[in-house]
Amino acid sequence: MSLQENTREQWGSKLGFILAAAGSAIGLGNIWKFPYVVGDNGGAAFILVYLICTAVIGIPVLMAEILIGRTTQRNPVGAFRQLSGSKFWSAVGGMGVVAGFVILSYYAVVAGWAVGYIYEAASGKFFEFGEPSNAGHHFNSLIEDVWWIVGYFSFFMILTMGVVFSGVQKGIERGSKIMMPILFVLLIILMVRGLTLPGAGEGIAFLLTPDWSHISGQSILIALGQAFFTLSMGMGAMLTYGSYMSKKDSIPIASIQIVILDTSIALMAGVAIFAAVFATGLLPNAGPGLIFHTLPVVFTKMPGGFLFSIIFFILLSIAALTSSISLLEVITAYFVDEKGWKRHKAVIVFGILTFILGIPSALSFNILADVKIFSLTFFDFADFIAANILLPLGGFFIAIFVAKVWGFDKAISELKHGTGKLFNKNPWLLTAWKIFIRYFAPVSIFFVLLHSTGILDMIFKALSK
Ligand code: PHE
Repeated sequence: MSLQENTREQWGSKLGFILAAAGSAIGLGNIWKFPYVVGDNGGAAFILVYLICTAVIGIPVLMAEILIGRTTQRNPVGAFRQLSGSKFWSAVGGMGVVAGFVILSYYAVVAGWAVGYIYEAASGKFFEFGEPSNAGHHFNSLIEDVWWIVGYFSFFMILTMGVVFSGVQKGIERGSKIMMPILFVLLIILMVRGLTLPGAGEGIAFLLTPDWSHISGQSILIALGQAFFTLSMGMGAMLTYGSYMSKKDSIPIASIQIVILDTSIALMAGVAIFAAVFATGLLPNAGPGLIFHTLPVVFTKMPGGFLFSIIFFILLSIAALTSSISLLEVITAYFVDEKGWKRHKAVIVFGILTFILGIPSALSFNILADVKIFSLTFFDFADFIAANILLPLGGFFIAIFVAKVWGFDKAISELKHGTGKLFNKNPWLLTAWKIFIRYFAPVSIFFVLLHSTGILDMIFKALSK
């Protein structure tokens, strides 16, 4: 039993929880990753596959994860231990805490670039580029500069620590209530700007006309992996946020709201970005560089581009911050619940440790560029392990845990809290949830993992040559 039992915080309101959880979900995954993954995988057909993955796997697993948190009112380790009494399952929770630590360490590096680009945009630098290759050179020269990259990385970590330091209600909830509406407004402004550019229609056509020839087993797996990452699923962030939730609120409704918000923000970012990219005659398949190589040039070719470029990078930084705080909160909740630490101490100690762990990732773009682990840089390795292995594995365990260890009877009696007559009127919803959790989710995640470790196999082979 924890020392904090009677003083554990809760969200001040239902809206506070939704905005904080949507804030966790909406991040670099939506605005940076989603558009370029769509661009690289052929547009509309990929989006459809992604939407199916989100509906069929995303919603059921998200519900399960939030449910484990709300039932136990604990961090991931304490939650699994309380429901199972087993060391193995506590370790599964522990894997989530470790994943949070690893993800935050490199996520905050990229988030630092977004913050740094607010300054680049405001200094008018983009107008010197002329074409994406010059923008690309400029970007490379920035990330090769150790002080630039580590400087903005540390600045972003301090912001993250500041919010989590202030607590669940006064920090995370209040921060999300301020930042999320700003994020929505900024994105709508950018989308309207993109759509009103002459030639924007081509970008929309790219997003709406499915080209099925691009869809392969590979792209289905990428879509599922993206669904996990973007919904912050599989490492206990949603579990931890769920642990501050009241039993009066409905988990199915909240989960659907979070998924709808997350998906619509990704789609809106896609519309804004592709409308502008096509309107300015540039290519959609620039990969991870889409935002830092292509977009700066796109902005210089549109009326009002200077202002819109600043707005865009503020938006990206806000989205990243509402996600990074959820990562740090997982680690903080663990030390507060399990070790009886004060929140302030946990935030400072683990904020600093995350920063130290992130330094090799930041240096992967300069001094340590040639240091490879399984032929990946430190940054790519951290991303690969966390996003491609730990998150799907966590989701797999969550599904198995609910189906086999905790059991549907107990899980469903907890799930019913706050749902009113929903399940009495629609009993099929529960049947569907059980089928998805018992079969669909574990089987499809299993394939994602095989695929991820298949990449590992290739790397091993390459190494042994
Ligand atoms: N969902 C966040 C994004 O899309 C990333 C994230 C993953 C946050 C896992 C928390 C946990 O950017």
